[in-house]
Amino acid sequence: MPGLIPPSLVVLSGAGLSAESGVATFRGADGLWEGHRIEEVATPEAFKHQPQLVHRFYNLRRAGLKTVLPNAAHEALVKLEREWPGAFLHVTQNVDDLNERAGAQKLLHMHGELKKVRCLWCRAVLPWEDSLETTTACPECAKTGKLRPDIVWFTEMPYYIDEIMRALQTVNVFLCIGTSGVVYPAAGFARLAADYGCQRMIEVNLEPTSISDNFTEQRHGPATVEVPKLVDELLAELSSG
Ligand code: APR
Repeated sequence: MPGLIPPSLVVLSGAGLSAESGVATFRGADGLWEGHRIEEVATPEAFKHQPQLVHRFYNLRRAGLKTVLPNAAHEALVKLEREWPGAFLHVTQNVDDLNERAGAQKLLHMHGELKKVRCLWCRAVLPWEDSLETTTACPECAKTGKLRPDIVWFTEMPYYIDEIMRALQTVNVFLCIGTSGVVYPAAGFARLAADYGCQRMIEVNLEPTSISDNFTEQRHGPATVEVPKLVDELLAELSSG
């Protein structure tokens, strides 16, 4: 019908989206935080006091990206992005590049990206494929020891908060995929979307989470099964009016 504004959609994703590609999640039996103490590798203090340890942790994770591929859930979200007629935004807490490799364009990495580094001296943000050492020189300003992974560590401010807040104010369909919902502010987005009046709130996860109460629909199962099904359903509903 002419004049009708098409519904807007926001996706919030977490580590469960990439789990079936072989990227470790954070919590749970084989989670990254089971083998590492967060404060030793993922805080600004850790980087100040033990930069080698922090670099080693992120170098391994960056190298690990070379052996993984996008899965059916990443691909389905790209289909949704391309075919959804209204505003679309995918906010990911993931620092891998699997969404981009599947073709995602309307994507915000609120916790940064493994394949980017940031210079604490000249503030340049640069694409980065290789290992980072404490002796690595910044390609922009040539200072050594100033490059850090462009990852949002605990106690730091996530990226793109203004854009995300704006999207949550007008969202009509909110999808939350593969996040345990324990790390704020992302864990608060579902509540905010609901408070702003979002009617369709769908959570996809293997199990109920600490934020499940905010959702009107739950899909329990692996993302590679549930997300493609859900995307097809949403697109079919929309085309049937
Ligand atoms: N399909 C769907 N959901 C899954 C799958 C899967 N195949 N595998 C795991 N999950 C779910 C788990 O049940 C869990 O709820 O994904 C969630 C992963 O939770 P976390 O490991 O806590 O990851 P995430 O929520 O992304 O963590 C948030 O914490 O440490 C920080 O910065 C880090 O961005 C990360 C943030």
